[in-house]
Amino acid sequence: MCGIVGYVGPGQALDVVIEGLRRLEYRGYDSAGVAVVADGAITTRKKAGKLANLEAEIAVDPLPASHIGIGHTRWATHGAPNDVNAHPHVSEDGTIAVIHNGIIENFAPLRDKLIAQGVTLRSQTDTEIVAHLLAQQMISTPDLGDALRAVCQELTGAFTLVVVHASTPNKIVAARRNSPLVVGRGVGENFLASDVAAFISHTRNAIELGQDQVVEMTPEAVVVTDFFGNPVEVKEYEVTWDAAAAEKGGYDLFMLKEIAEQPKAVADTLLGRIDLEGRVTLDDLTLDLDYIKNIDKIIITACGTAYHSGMIAKYAIEHWTRIPCEVELASEFRYRDPILTPTTLVIAISQSGETMDTLMAMRYAREQGAKVLAICNSNGSTIPRESDAVIYTHAGPEIAVASTKAFLTQIVACYLFAMYLAQTRGTGYGEAAGEIALELGRMPSKIDLVLDTSGAVNAIAKKLIDKQSVLFLGRSVGFPVALEGALKLKELAYMHAEGFAAGELKHGPIALIEEGIPVFVVVPPVEDELHDKIVSNIQEVRARGAMTIVLAEEGDESIVEFSDHIIRLPKCPALLQPLVSTVPLQMFSCEMATVKGYDVDQPRNLAKSVTVE
Ligand code: AGP
Repeated sequence: MCGIVGYVGPGQALDVVIEGLRRLEYRGYDSAGVAVVADGAITTRKKAGKLANLEAEIAVDPLPASHIGIGHTRWATHGAPNDVNAHPHVSEDGTIAVIHNGIIENFAPLRDKLIAQGVTLRSQTDTEIVAHLLAQQMISTPDLGDALRAVCQELTGAFTLVVVHASTPNKIVAARRNSPLVVGRGVGENFLASDVAAFISHTRNAIELGQDQVVEMTPEAVVVTDFFGNPVEVKEYEVTWDAAAAEKGGYDLFMLKEIAEQPKAVADTLLGRIDLEGRVTLDDLTLDLDYIKNIDKIIITACGTAYHSGMIAKYAIEHWTRIPCEVELASEFRYRDPILTPTTLVIAISQSGETMDTLMAMRYAREQGAKVLAICNSNGSTIPRESDAVIYTHAGPEIAVASTKAFLTQIVACYLFAMYLAQTRGTGYGEAAGEIALELGRMPSKIDLVLDTSGAVNAIAKKLIDKQSVLFLGRSVGFPVALEGALKLKELAYMHAEGFAAGELKHGPIALIEEGIPVFVVVPPVEDELHDKIVSNIQEVRARGAMTIVLAEEGDESIVEFSDHIIRLPKCPALLQPLVSTVPLQMFSCEMATVKGYDVDQPRNLAKSVTVE
C-alpha cells in the first residue's frame, strides 16, 4: 500500500511527482523519496517520515531540473521506516533507480545470491535487489524494457515496480503483479501512479494495467506487453470524479468531509436502482437469471470495515432471500479449505478494490468454480475487474484511512442486491423487501439528521479522553455496528476498544465492567424483539458501575434512567438502523483522535489500501 508516481513530458517532473505523492500520501507515509534523470545521471532524494520531510530536504538540497521522474511514499514491509530503506533504490553503478509497491516473496534467496556475487546491499528492503538484478540483466539485455521483463520472470509475490535509467531520459518502464498501477494518458506527456488521484488534475484518461504486464512509457507513447514481450490490448477509460472531489473542500480533515458526505453517498448509490414501486433494478449486473435463480449459498468475504458491512448484509440477505449466507474474513477464507460449488456466490466487498487479502480470496473462489460479485467503490480497480459482476458504490473518493462513507454505501449496495435476489427469485419476502427499498430512499435525510448530534458526541469524547478502554455493545445488525465502532476508536485514537454481541456479556466479557468504564450501547427500535433484552444489558453494566452512552431512537424513553449519555437516532426499520447508528461512533472516534492530537486522516502504522497479504 505504498504511493507510486511517475512522470515523463515537457513539464518539471519534480513538481508533478511531488504533487502526485501529496495526493497519494494516505496510501502509506512511513517515508518518501524521488528520483529524476538529468544530464545522463540519476539524482535521488529520500527521507523518513511524512512527505513534508522530503520536501524540506529538497528545499535545502535541490534536484536538477528534469522532465522525467518517479516518486514513492512508503508503508514499510521489509526494513524499518528510515532514510536508507526509503525508496527509490539504486543500482551499485547509480544508473538505475527503482520504486516498488508490494512484497517480493523470494527476495531472501535472490539477496543471498547477490551478496555471494559481491554486490553490496545498502538497505534491508526487498526492493533494492531489483535494482541490482536489473543492472546485471542489462549486461546481456541492454534494452530497459526487456531487462525488466526478464527480471520479473525471476520474482514471486506482489510487485509493482517503476524504473528509470540514466541513459534513457525519455522513458519510464514499469511492471505490475497484484499491486495496483494505472497510466494517465496526457497530451505529449504521460503519468504512472498507484491511484488515479495522483494525476487527476492533469488528465482523466487512464489505462489500468493488468496482471503480469510491463509498460514502457515515453511522452508520446504507451506500450504494454506481458512479461514475455507479447503485446497486450489495453482499455482506456475516463475517470469519473475530478480533482476537487479528492480535496478537503473546506473541512479540516478528509474524515470530517467524508462523514458529512454520507447522505449524498447513500443517495448516489441508490440513484436509479429503486423504482417508485420499490422494485430494485440492477441493469449493469452481469449475472444471468438462471444462475441467480440457482444460487444456493452466499459467502461474503472482506476485511476490516468492509467485513463489518458484510456482517450486516448477512442479516438482510438471509431474511429476504432465505439463501444461507456466511461472512468470512478474507485473510482466513482461502486457508480453511472452504466448500465452494458452481452455485455458490462469493461477494467480495472492498472500497479500494485492491485489498490483497480480498483479491486473493476471490481469486481462490473463482479457481474453485464459484462466481464472484464485487461490491466496490473504485471504478476499474483490480477486484471488480477480476470479478464476474460488480455493484459499484458511488461514495466518491474516500481519502481518509478510516473508512466511513464507503461503509454505509457498502451496506446499501448489499441490501440492494439482497432485495434484487428476493424479488427476482420470488421469495415470500419480496414485498417486505419492496417496503424497505422505499424506506431506503428516505435514509439520506435521516443520516443528515444524525450528523447534527456531532456537538453532543464531541462533548462525550472530551469527557472520555483519559479512559483506558471503551466497550461497544449491540445485537443483531447492531452487533457489527459495535465492532465497527470499536475498530474506529482503535485505528484513530489508538485506544483499547472492543465490540461485543450484547447477549454474550454474561458469558465472560461482563467481568470487564468496572467503575466508570465507558460502554456504548446500540439500541434497536422499540418494536424490535431484541429491544427489551438490550435494555436489560444496559442495566446489567450500569449496575456494575459502567458509564453508559446509549444510542436509541427518538421517543424511546425506556433507556433514560439507565443512560449517562443518550445519542438520539431518527426512527427507521431495524435493518436500516446501522446507516444512522454508525455515524455517531464515527464522529466520536474522529473527535477523540483530534483532541488527542493525532493525525486523523493518516493514523500511525496504517494505510488506506492494504495491497500486501
Ligand atoms: C477501516 O477504517 C480500515 N481503513 C480498514 O479496515 C479497511 O476497511 C480494510 O482494509 C478494507 O479495505 P477495502 O475496503 O479497501 O478492501
